[in-house]
Amino acid sequence: MVNKYLYLNTIGCQMNVYDSEQIAMRLAALGYQQTSLLEKADLVIVNTCTIRAKAEQKAFSFLGRLARLKKKKPGLITGVGGCVAQQEGERIFKRIPYLDLVFGTQAIDRLPHLIQKIEKKRCRIVDIEQADKPRFPEANDRIAPASQVSRFVTIMRGCDNFCSYCVVPHVRGRETSRHPDVIISEIRELARSGLKEVTLLGQNVNSYGKKEGLCSFTELLSRVSQIEGLMRIRFTTSHPKDFDEDLIYALGTNEKLCDHIHLPVQSGSNRVLKRMNRKYTKELYLDKVAKLRDTCPDIAITSDIIVGFPGESEADFDETLDLIRTIEFDGLFAFKYSDRPNAPAAKFEEKVPDQHMKKRLQVLLDLQDTFTEKKNQALVGACLPILAEGFSKRQSSGNLNHPLQAVQWTGRTSTNKIVNFYHDDNPESCDDLSPGELVDVKIEKAYSHSLWGKLVEGTAAAERLKGDRSYAA
Ligand code: 5AD
Ligand code: SF4
Repeated sequence: MVNKYLYLNTIGCQMNVYDSEQIAMRLAALGYQQTSLLEKADLVIVNTCTIRAKAEQKAFSFLGRLARLKKKKPGLITGVGGCVAQQEGERIFKRIPYLDLVFGTQAIDRLPHLIQKIEKKRCRIVDIEQADKPRFPEANDRIAPASQVSRFVTIMRGCDNFCSYCVVPHVRGRETSRHPDVIISEIRELARSGLKEVTLLGQNVNSYGKKEGLCSFTELLSRVSQIEGLMRIRFTTSHPKDFDEDLIYALGTNEKLCDHIHLPVQSGSNRVLKRMNRKYTKELYLDKVAKLRDTCPDIAITSDIIVGFPGESEADFDETLDLIRTIEFDGLFAFKYSDRPNAPAAKFEEKVPDQHMKKRLQVLLDLQDTFTEKKNQALVGACLPILAEGFSKRQSSGNLNHPLQAVQWTGRTSTNKIVNFYHDDNPESCDDLSPGELVDVKIEKAYSHSLWGKLVEGTAAAERLKGDRSYAA
């Protein structure tokens, strides 16, 4: 088979990362090998996101760059997949006249067939068909080899919640859960080839299986935790309205479940939450967080917040700041509200001017930074189990003026905080490390977005998967 090269650009969320792996795997069967050099590619695919206008612009600006390449290499095939493809369909051809393929969020299985057709007939294709019940990869579909320590696995697709600002239900379709047997078989296969940590993905994992009458999410977690070799389980995203005591109990008792939850609150104002169609109040959110912290005192909580939702007053925004002060999140993802096609809020009046949104965003991020730093500082002196992932970026870029730069590693705590570490007395012991090992690291310094520490030998990290803090002298 002649070597053909695929350049795959993934924009957006973890679900797109998983989908891109599925795309690469299916195209490998057609002889396409992945390359990181755009100039080398015979096929360029961009897997797009449309959650906010900015993400969509990113996709179009990348596609614009392809014009020159296509001129130089007329045989080049170019395709757009993902949420922008689903949303815009054929209209993308008008904007990008040299594009060959537009494929939607449910067309990944059909991709090899579509590419073969374009290879043969040099035609242009749009496939944005959405089934009521999207097909998931079957257990016996080929699974990409797991060279990584940590991977995402999709357990459900779509969303039925229709938050008024959100495009997801419109581009990803209705919520559908994947059969537990298929999920278990995929993760088991990955664990056999070295996977240590899995992140289960869904727009609202708490409602997993309910519609189809499959097992509950906590039952699924319990099955996943029995997979041999797998050390850590993460999941995202939880919806506060469905986040329940069963899951709190599982977080408190299941040793493999990491001490972290991402629980998007979006706003601290009940008036705004109602207009967002979030179906919970600030009080309910606070109550669930209190119960969670009661059972899991060490748990890290992160969240998403939208500033400048249509009609958000200064008083509403102050309520969001108050909520942040009350909860003290470990980290926050905050976004300026962005009108999205088909999302009802696009038609809401009282749009907040951009300069006000910008200001609110900055105030909110500055406030959150104080809590992120406080949480990180509190870990200085603690000895925590870290899943070693590989060399740290600073080391890879080779700009660390330290003789030990060759052994600087990076990994994460159970609470999902990045830790860079090395061994100062015995660099060789770090040299011997392999990705996927659970090691103990004594935290020495805290920065705003990462921690820095020293490898500690002789402690039994693997026996403390969750990382009850021990303090090394
Ligand atoms: N504008 C701004 N932020 C949005 N999000 C979703 N839709 C929008 C929008 N229209 C944010 C929410 C969500 C996260 C993934 O993206 O906070 O939780
Ligand atoms: Fe969008 Fe709301 Fe569904 Fe999340 S729960 S994907 S914000 S509609």
